[in-house]
Amino acid sequence: MQDDNTINQSRRRFLLAATSVVGAAGAAAVATPFLASWSPSARALAAGAPVEMDVRKVEPGQLVRIVWRGKPVWVVNRTQEMLDNLASNDLRLRDPGSAVTSQQPAYAQNPYRSRKPEYLVLVGICTHLGCSPTYRPELAPADLGADWKGGWYCPCHGSRFDLAGRVFKNVPAATNLVVPPYHFKDDNTILVGEDGSKA
Ligand code: FES
Repeated sequence: MQDDNTINQSRRRFLLAATSVVGAAGAAAVATPFLASWSPSARALAAGAPVEMDVRKVEPGQLVRIVWRGKPVWVVNRTQEMLDNLASNDLRLRDPGSAVTSQQPAYAQNPYRSRKPEYLVLVGICTHLGCSPTYRPELAPADLGADWKGGWYCPCHGSRFDLAGRVFKNVPAATNLVVPPYHFKDDNTILVGEDGSKA
């Protein structure tokens, strides 16, 4: 025969199990409307649909981050001074002419690595081991040296990239940052994820 203590413990276990079931059912009830409310475009975005952006949002010298296929993508509006400084990096770069074709579409295989000189579009993932490099647009900061003309510094192992996403020599990363497929739908609208008809 069970004593009172054993009966109470059995009852407590039953009540705990019952509460867990109610909790799980409650969570499912909350989750269902959320998924149902997902629009077709939200599903498409998660699956890798192109992402549109108005480039007028990006001030000169500024970087704006968007997400495409779950990856960070940077859109930078380079100033004329930034563009003019690019060539001075060439001798210190591993692949100044973007010869490694896997790192950009053909229309970005030029000195600016972009369709329009001022707007640079890059996947914001370091080509060494996948960290997110830090945007360092300033000229000659103390920690990066007198030759620094702006670019990205990867905090994980010290790789450096210039303002065209080109990798410097003598750093762990072997290749330039990736330019994703993109095109301009009109003067102000960029579509990341599609080459467009003028590819
Ligand atoms: S992940 Fe960027 S330097 Fe290693």
